[in-house]
Amino acid sequence: MKSFPFASHAIRWVPLIILLIAVSCRSSLQVVSSFSDQKVVHPLKAYPQDTTGSSEKGFEYMKYGPMVGNGIPWEVNKKIFGVLEDTVFKREGLNAMLPHTNIAFEAVPGVPVVSGNCFTCHSQEINGKMVLGLGNSFSDYTRSLGPLLRALNFNVKRKYGKNSEEWETYEEQGKWYLAIAQATVMPNPGTNPAFRLEEAVVSYRNKEDLSFSKKKKFLLEKPSIGSDVPPLWNVKKKKALYYTGLGRGDFSKLLMQVSVLGVHDSTKAREIQKNFVDVMAWLNELEPPAYPAEISQELAEEGRKIFLTNCSKCHGTYGDNESYPNKIIPISKIQTDPVYAEYNLNSRLMDWYNESWFGQSTPYAHHLPSYGYVAPPLDGVWATAPYLHNGSVPDLWTLLKSSDRPIYWSRSGERDDFNFKLVGWNYKKEKNGKGKLTYDTTENGAGKEGHYFGDRLEDEERMALIEYLKTL
Ligand code: HEC
Ligand code: HEC
Repeated sequence: MKSFPFASHAIRWVPLIILLIAVSCRSSLQVVSSFSDQKVVHPLKAYPQDTTGSSEKGFEYMKYGPMVGNGIPWEVNKKIFGVLEDTVFKREGLNAMLPHTNIAFEAVPGVPVVSGNCFTCHSQEINGKMVLGLGNSFSDYTRSLGPLLRALNFNVKRKYGKNSEEWETYEEQGKWYLAIAQATVMPNPGTNPAFRLEEAVVSYRNKEDLSFSKKKKFLLEKPSIGSDVPPLWNVKKKKALYYTGLGRGDFSKLLMQVSVLGVHDSTKAREIQKNFVDVMAWLNELEPPAYPAEISQELAEEGRKIFLTNCSKCHGTYGDNESYPNKIIPISKIQTDPVYAEYNLNSRLMDWYNESWFGQSTPYAHHLPSYGYVAPPLDGVWATAPYLHNGSVPDLWTLLKSSDRPIYWSRSGERDDFNFKLVGWNYKKEKNGKGKLTYDTTENGAGKEGHYFGDRLEDEERMALIEYLKTL
């Protein structure tokens, strides 16, 4: 199997990345302060959803849709990032020459551009198989995108000239990409800046109609912080989206936020939103990947009992008697790193969102962050390492035995370097956080603490529990 070290891999993705990133967000005003004092477990309320979409159309849109609204002119993209065959979707036309994580489309008639798509962050190869919907934990955003963006701007201008339609289409976007480059620098490899990008991008948007603003609308929180990428097959069980459950209301509206990267205004955004009703239908049918190695049914049955006693009240039940409680667990109880939740609560993005076209036009969506984290469904959890909202814990064994969690650890970056016993990517303990591929849990927001619910178990019970988790 081919090896993709973080660095070279990142280079390939960066362009898209830039474009795409946005996706998610959060926000909220009054409610925030009272909720941040919350000490009790919070069951989430369901909001009405439009279920009239077509999953087939939704998948087409995921593969071909111009959801980002704009991108890098085709020739410049080709020059800087080269041509790569689409081996996953085997699409036609210009898309045949792009990896499945990119989309080519005409930003205005006759001007083909390239942007990233949802699969840039929401697909990953594991053990030789590309899994759509699995969060990509191998990207590297630890360096500023500034130099690359400057090169892009320079090349677009030189290739097409200042009076071209290409430059006109690209210019505004190119300018603010540069303005936000520094904001998305992450403390660790694997950590994803999606919300951060969203925050940076909308800080240059008028909230009423999403048009560009020359003046910055609000200041970004400091310092920069990111998260792991959750799997998409669990969306169907959720009443609120995102790690802190801040995504409330209509899911199709929440999911189209990636569009603020490039759309001109809310008229265009409205067209895009309609397609996301179909994307939701596709998401609702997405299934987790089955565990690819042998499972001892006897041991798993022992584990199931342990799960029911120790884990179900937060994570639900699976199999014939399926249930999922949709709870936000306050920081005081979960005790995992609070920085991401604090960032969500403090970000000015929340107010912007709630007062914007997103929050003020139908179908309504809003952001309501909380001082805690959603206890996620555990379907396909064998594949979603590293664990916790910040991806600070490398495998299921260490998630369930906190004294074994490494402070500094690194992965090879090879997509078949998987540990089927401890269930997660093989990792090496490091002496410090200096290595390029090292995850340093002493960084801001990267703490490995909390979620101590497995600590009371004996090692054999823990092995049985892990065997059961493989079956989900
Ligand atoms: C730049 C990376 C990136 C891109 C591109 C991206 N996402 Fe995400 N997505 C994330 C991250 C990171 C999160 C977690 C943020 C959080 O929960 O605070 C997330 C969260 C989500 C969630 C919430 C899942 C849950 O369990 O709560 C959904 C649904 C989602 N993304 C769908 C999409 C769709 C659809 C697209 C394309 C339109 C997309 N994303 C594009 C990075 C990305
Ligand atoms: C009091 C509620 C609660 C209990 C009990 C609980 N969990 Fe969790 N669990 C959570 C929350 C909340 C998170 C997310 C924390 C975060 O990301 O910071 C989580 C995260 C996880 C994750 C990581 C998921 C991922 O993809 O990152 C796994 C795996 C998990 N729990 C398994 C278990 C198991 C197994 C048990 C029983 C031993 C258990 N949990 C008990 C609330 C709970």
